[in-house]
Amino acid sequence: MYNVLTLNKIAKCGTDILGDNYTVSDNETNPVAVLVRSASMHEMEMPESLLAIARAGAGVNNIPIKDCAEKGIVVFNSPGANANAVKELVVAGLLMSSRKIVNGIEWAKTLKGNGDQVGKMVEKGKSNFAGPEIMGKTLGVIGLGAIGIKVANVASALGMKVVGCDPFLSEANKAKLVDCKIVETNDEVYAEADYITVHVPLNDGTRGMINKETISKMKDGVRVLNYSRDGLVNSTDILDALKSGKMSAYVTDFATDDILGEDGVIAMPHLGASTPESEDNCAVMAATEVKDYLENGNIVNS
Ligand code: MLT
Repeated sequence: MYNVLTLNKIAKCGTDILGDNYTVSDNETNPVAVLVRSASMHEMEMPESLLAIARAGAGVNNIPIKDCAEKGIVVFNSPGANANAVKELVVAGLLMSSRKIVNGIEWAKTLKGNGDQVGKMVEKGKSNFAGPEIMGKTLGVIGLGAIGIKVANVASALGMKVVGCDPFLSEANKAKLVDCKIVETNDEVYAEADYITVHVPLNDGTRGMINKETISKMKDGVRVLNYSRDGLVNSTDILDALKSGKMSAYVTDFATDDILGEDGVIAMPHLGASTPESEDNCAVMAATEVKDYLENGNIVNS
């Protein structure tokens, strides 16, 4: 019998895959594997029995990778399993960064109670909430993995020009791009893009990559979207750029105290992967990887 520890709620269709030889619980005693979503494992004492950790999600920065490598614990993730969910929210972010959807909705609520005057008030006030169309504008995609590719392709379908950069872009992934100009450096993306969306993991090479210096290379009025990790940006530099008008909007899936409520910031509580479809996909992929490893010794990161 294999004991599997779940540190978050993992979709049942995933744990069902494991089958009768597994007990799945939140009991930390003697697990051979952990299924985890966003819970941090950095402070956790790794049990001697632990052989594998599978992240039902893409990023693995909540897992102490080096520590696991030293202890021989195999770490899996679920690349691509939530890519469609994130892509859809990026589309919403592109539109929210351009059209004053959020402010407009908030303002409309303040009209409540004005009865049949509301129509007139709307006519008078709505010009404060105009914003440009995205069609014909250029979207820069930094990181052309599973999510970046989908974002690039949907942006093309919406009539945007797309320029992308990824030093690790494989030929197979390149072939999936419909109409994306591939450039060698992020600087080329910064120079060309009206909108920039970042789809890279957080590591020593990417931490703080959107900062005063890189923002200065962007077009005036640029709109920046970050659905990857909050550590990729320097928040102070983002707020300065918003105040000066260098940046028109910052859309982020990380609601952190330093940026909440600031003009030009649209912050969501990490909703990118929050769809039932994505939660199912991630759970199935993570559980399949663990099962294959424990039963067959295969290390296949789907
Ligand atoms: C991911 O790493 O897959 C996404 O950020 C979504 C999540 O953390 O659940």
